[in-house]
Amino acid sequence: MTEESPDIDAPAALAGSAPPVDASADLPLLRIEGVGKKFGAFRAVDRLSLDIREGEFFALLGPSGCGKTTLLRMLAGFETPDEGRILLGGRDIAPMPPHQRPVNMMFQNYALFPHLSVRDNIAFGLRRAGMARAAIDIRVAEMVALVKLDGLEKRKPDQLSGGQKQRVALARALARRPQVLLLDEPLAALDKKLRESTQLELMALQRRLGMTFIIVTHDQEEAMTMANRIGVMDAGRLEQVATPRNLYEAPHSRWVAEFIGDVNLFDGEIASRDPHRLIVSTRDGGTIVVAEPRQPVGKTAVSIAIRPEKVKLSRRGPALDAIDSHAINRLEGVVTDVSYLGGLTVYQVKLDSGAMVRSSMANTVRIDIDAYSAGQRVVVWFTPDDCVVLEQ
Ligand SMILES: Nc1ncnc2c1ncn2[C@@H]1O[C@H](COP(=O)(O)OP(=O)(O)OP(=O)(O)O)[C@@H](O)[C@H]1O
Ligand SMILES: [Mg+2]
Repeated sequence: MTEESPDIDAPAALAGSAPPVDASADLPLLRIEGVGKKFGAFRAVDRLSLDIREGEFFALLGPSGCGKTTLLRMLAGFETPDEGRILLGGRDIAPMPPHQRPVNMMFQNYALFPHLSVRDNIAFGLRRAGMARAAIDIRVAEMVALVKLDGLEKRKPDQLSGGQKQRVALARALARRPQVLLLDEPLAALDKKLRESTQLELMALQRRLGMTFIIVTHDQEEAMTMANRIGVMDAGRLEQVATPRNLYEAPHSRWVAEFIGDVNLFDGEIASRDPHRLIVSTRDGGTIVVAEPRQPVGKTAVSIAIRPEKVKLSRRGPALDAIDSHAINRLEGVVTDVSYLGGLTVYQVKLDSGAMVRSSMANTVRIDIDAYSAGQRVVVWFTPDDCVVLEQ
């Protein structure tokens, strides 16, 4: 049994009821307040603050090594913060050992008990919490069905595939229905189809049980599908916390814009300002008109971010008489590469300035009447509202 054994068995959480804490209505369920963790001189988590609401599905995204697992381990009680506080329902949980926290963690490396069968691994926490045998049987059967492990109940972990082990770990973490469930890349080893169906089932289960989920994933689409809010982490800090839509459509920084999804970036300087527009003079895209952002931009040096699906291609450009010609940014170039991806096609266009721009278009009909081919000259256009202005 490793230090990471799932011995996190507060009886209060077993019944799915809230623990006896003095939560007031406007407090978040979980408050992370300036929490930091160093390993030697290295800051794995850097004075990070975050509120999680009850019943929320929260996803943590970030590059490898940015501190996601360390943060979850501090929430679960397997790691002690060097500074800051973690409040659950308004109560500081620092003195609470892992098994007394109404928090369960599914570990990135599964941490299954090798000597126990699938069934006993799933039942482990329920037994320790003193659940009645008959109730355990029902709960385990429910979990086995949820993660589609029927028929494998008697196997030991070393007789399972990677994806099957991952599902046992998921079932084990869910079985006790903790108030807060921490999932460290729970679906990474599953094939795409099974991952998608498990995502939907997890979301349904989370809603049905009113549990609070914090999930770490490297799969942005997964985070966007499942989470109410996403926190993007880098080097131990939260770069931005937002809904999936806001994170994608209104990133706060160049780093977030590049980390989430695909983006075209033009660096430049603000040349002039209108009440509703900024005129930005860029090196690679000439003069680009952008809508005035809600947050005022102080600096003159800016980057303009445009998602590929907002970049339209045309043989002759948009019908300018139909729209205000100043409302369109229009560049010219040559298609250099076409990637057909099924639902959409991605075009690489080399602008006359030499810069590359990506445009993606949904394939809404089967016949490729609108397709562009490599070598073709095209007009590349997008509107001021399609642009996000970011400080450099
Ligand atoms: N016990 C430890 N001792 C020393 N350094 C550690 C320890 N645990 C983690 N680290 C370091 O802290 C940093 C954060 O690690 P962590 O496991 O939290 O990253 P992560 O975001 O979960 O990465 P991944 O996506 O690869 O799982 C890494 O640089 C890691 O090497
Ligand atoms: Mg990790």
